[in-house]
Amino acid sequence: MEYVKVAQTTELPPGSKKKISLGNKDILLTNFEGTYYALDNRCPHMGGSLFDGKLEGNHIICPKHGSVFDVKTGRVVERGSILFIKVKVDDLHQYPVKIEGTDLYIGIE
Ligand code: FES
Repeated sequence: MEYVKVAQTTELPPGSKKKISLGNKDILLTNFEGTYYALDNRCPHMGGSLFDGKLEGNHIICPKHGSVFDVKTGRVVERGSILFIKVKVDDLHQYPVKIEGTDLYIGIE
């Protein structure tokens, strides 16, 4: 696994998010209560950009159909819906995050 420097801790206060592009991956980096989490930015349902969704506590809400994910685990908390029908959606892939000084690194396979 290779760790890539992606941001400074000072850029990302608690409750904030940042979108990182690494090669062909878009990654959502969040700070929840002082801990940093990195997940795929693309919603597994139909590719909504989670960065454009609302971050409420440890939940990120997909802007397309409202699926809710836990930023700490990538797990689906609540499936979104289209015309009152719940969508089928998988959990998000999570990436390891490492901090050295004020540098934030994401581990990529
Ligand atoms: S694209 Fe995210 S819930 Fe449909």
